[in-house]
Amino acid sequence: MNKDLFEHKSKSWDMNSKRVQNAKSIAELIVKNIKLGKSMELMDFGAGTGLLSFLIAPFVDKIVAVDNSPSMLKEFENKCDEFVCQTEIIQKDLSIESLDRKFDGIISSMTIHHLEDIIALFSKLYDMLREGGFIAIADLDIEDGSFHSDNTGVFHHGFDREALEVIAEKAGFKEIKFDTASTISKPHRDFTVFLMTAKK
Ligand SMILES: C[S@@+](CC[C@H](N)C(=O)[O-])C[C@H]1O[C@@H](n2cnc3c(N)ncnc32)[C@H](O)[C@@H]1O
Repeated sequence: MNKDLFEHKSKSWDMNSKRVQNAKSIAELIVKNIKLGKSMELMDFGAGTGLLSFLIAPFVDKIVAVDNSPSMLKEFENKCDEFVCQTEIIQKDLSIESLDRKFDGIISSMTIHHLEDIIALFSKLYDMLREGGFIAIADLDIEDGSFHSDNTGVFHHGFDREALEVIAEKAGFKEIKFDTASTISKPHRDFTVFLMTAKK
């Protein structure tokens, strides 16, 4: 198995108030932009400790947390009892594997910049959706590489929205939309986070 790049961060992950606020802003925009339902089963791709899943849980039946970091998933598992929907945890690296499952929707926050091949990823996400299913993916707008203090495991310094739209379109997605979900302020500059939504 590849090295767990989040091992040293997992225990204190939820203690960062900017991170928690970012997840809240993303969740609020997902709830505003997508018609969620109590019968829905969603995947949270790169769920980590479950910051986003936890906030979306009241609106759906089940969230399947998919992540390749055992330490982050351990933190997710520790919180499972507090979730108001069903949960399932799957440790999987979606850059090298896929999942033979179909979901009503796939949500994701601050994860896709960790995957090198975005074309392959969008094609996998498309395959893992039921007909009419949605994606709601949040990540950084293009940045200068200074967001992370250590860029190990970071393959993209944010994304150009138009370039991502073309990739999603080629994978088969329709109704692709972008909104600004939040701004993360660091001492040296601000970073904006987009929410991309689309349908199968
Ligand atoms: C920056 S964290 C975000 C965690 C959470 N979504 C949040 O907003 O707090 C990125 C997460 O993506 C996971 N991840 C990175 N590459 C992955 C891959 N190839 N397959 C599955 N999970 C991955 C990491 O383990 C980590 O938990």
